[in-house]
Amino acid sequence: MKIGFIGAGNMGRAIANGLVAKGVCKADALQCISASGKGSAIMAEQTGARIAASKKELIEQSDVVVLAFKPQHLETITDEEAKAATGKLVVSVLAGRTLASMKAVFPEASNLVRVMPNTPSQIGKGVSTYCFEQTPSDSQQAEVNELLASLGTAYEVAEDQLHVATVINGCGPAFYFRIGQLISEAADARGLDKDLALKLAAETGIGSLELMKASKRDPKDLIDEVVSPNGVTHALLTSLDRQGFPKIIDQSMQDAVDRSIELSQSK
Ligand SMILES: NC(=O)c1ccc[n+]([C@@H]2O[C@H](COP(=O)([O-])OP(=O)(O)OC[C@H]3O[C@@H](n4cnc5c(N)ncnc54)[C@H](OP(=O)(O)O)[C@@H]3O)[C@@H](O)[C@H]2O)c1
Repeated sequence: MKIGFIGAGNMGRAIANGLVAKGVCKADALQCISASGKGSAIMAEQTGARIAASKKELIEQSDVVVLAFKPQHLETITDEEAKAATGKLVVSVLAGRTLASMKAVFPEASNLVRVMPNTPSQIGKGVSTYCFEQTPSDSQQAEVNELLASLGTAYEVAEDQLHVATVINGCGPAFYFRIGQLISEAADARGLDKDLALKLAAETGIGSLELMKASKRDPKDLIDEVVSPNGVTHALLTSLDRQGFPKIIDQSMQDAVDRSIELSQSK
């Protein structure tokens, strides 16, 4: 599978690095191009990808074209470049850009895939959500599976569910980083070394979430195993609830979903 990356920043490189690291793709099957040449030079150095002379050439020489530039640049693709994508699979990670807006730019692509990856993809621990424009052929499904497996796990969702899913997997890393930041600051203020607090928070988070995933049990049951009546965890959770934590999570999720819908409609 020959893969061409248009845009070679953080996300493009995370995908390309994953593809090479997992042996999905040999370096000579990868090509890239970026705006100033900065990102493509780094991707070429990290993965051995060839830097294409032009987007048109890159598209012509690829089986799968990955769009990994900023969402507002989708319409900078020219008609000539779009024509070169006739019969090719075009995969976009552009946040908020709908399949309809991709179709308007690449009307002759064999199929279009909209993906929401996340930054833990940099270490192969990402979670992606994705949807196809048309029901995929077996080979298209296999190509997308291979591509996304290089980042971690992937789940197909209907496009209209992508707003909610995006808040969980796309924004989620920032949510967990914020929790880590706040916990370590609160611990520091109470005399515990900040670096140690961050390690405790990260390792506790990883262990707890791995347990939640592996056990497949309701989180409420897992909470019950930690809480003793009137104990320390009880004090923590009661305080969180008293201060409106469930409402904060619910409302902040709604605000983020609303913003996702707004952004996708404004493009
Ligand atoms: N980072 C995330 O957490 C995340 C998560 C999900 C989705 N995404 C999506 O991933 C996409 C890329 O994000 P990023 O974080 O990788 O951005 P980034 O690090 O800023 O990289 C953007 C890349 O696009 C290139 N570029 C800019 N304009 C271009 C154009 N007109 N044609 C071709 N290439 C162009 C840049 O070129 P130079 O290197 O030469 O400047 C750079 O390589 C965005 O659409 C974003 O919505 C990101």
